[in-house]
Amino acid sequence: MEFLNSSLTTFLCLLPKGVVRPFAMRYVAGESEEDALGVVHELNQLGFTTTLDILGEHSESDEAAREITDNYVRLYEIIADSSLDCNISIKLTHLGLGHDDTLAEKNLFRLLDITERRENFLRIDMENSPYTDATLNLYEKCTAKYQSVGPVLQAYLKRSGDDLKRILSGNPLELNVRICKGIYREPDSIALQDRQEIRNSFIDLVQTGLSNGAYIAIATHDIYLIDTLKTWIDNQSIPKEGYEFQVLYGVPMGNKLEELLDGGHKVRIYIPFGDEWYAYAMRRFKENPKIISYIMGNWFKT
Ligand code: FDA
Repeated sequence: MEFLNSSLTTFLCLLPKGVVRPFAMRYVAGESEEDALGVVHELNQLGFTTTLDILGEHSESDEAAREITDNYVRLYEIIADSSLDCNISIKLTHLGLGHDDTLAEKNLFRLLDITERRENFLRIDMENSPYTDATLNLYEKCTAKYQSVGPVLQAYLKRSGDDLKRILSGNPLELNVRICKGIYREPDSIALQDRQEIRNSFIDLVQTGLSNGAYIAIATHDIYLIDTLKTWIDNQSIPKEGYEFQVLYGVPMGNKLEELLDGGHKVRIYIPFGDEWYAYAMRRFKENPKIISYIMGNWFKT
């Protein structure tokens, strides 16, 4: 399977953009802000809450990092003015981390000023392991001044249990953390590779967070995890305001999301958009060829 996925990745990279577009566009809300806001509006009407992500990462100039920050500032204004149920997820390397860390911090704080002024929330996505420490350090620095910000922990990283303990030792009642499996390929020296071990770690992180009073965003399409955690949450009588389920836009979920909504659970859809879709999709395909088999498999599902 690994070989087949890698071969398909190489093949896709050789194809013209127009041919790759339908593969990528199933998971992207379009190229423009209007496209994305239209999707947010439609999903809100259906009862879903949302998060917007402007595609891209690793800004290579001060100007690019500032421009992307400006775009996010504008999005916050539009979201508030249009009363949309939508927050924002960013990648710190998009704001300049790795290029100029001081500038990234400045851009992040600028975004958090508007997040709080417009009574919204900012999620800091977790990137690959060279950025884990810098991301968590910057998140902790933010919490000295801002409350409407939350990090992401990846269940496959062996360090995540300790990271959760560390961030819980602040004020757990103010912690809002997303738990996901982790999308990058990481070496087995630092990351679990076994599917069930990753699931167990995911369950452990969610249960530890919820038991300590933190708000947990349960970000997965894995039905086993959704059902296991839903049952545990019901048995523990965790209040519905204490957590939400999250999925990526376009990933087929059968009627699972409607079932969650009908049960009174909050469901947020993560919506990426922007003109960087081609570079983004190619990087994702190369980093994690497993995505190709997801896409091929999803093609035939609804
Ligand atoms: P699993 O990998 O078992 O997938 C279950 C099924 O879902 C697959 O069989 C496939 O059908 C479908 N599927 C899953 N991922 C897909 C994809 N990308 N495209 C198409 N189909 C897919 N990671 C990270 O490292 N940092 C982050 O900040 C985030 N943020 C994030 C937010 C949200 C809302 C979600 C849902 C996920 C993330 N992720 C992430 C990605 C996450 O770490 C993980 O790689 C994917 O969710 C896949 O893992 P699952 O738990 O869904 O299970």
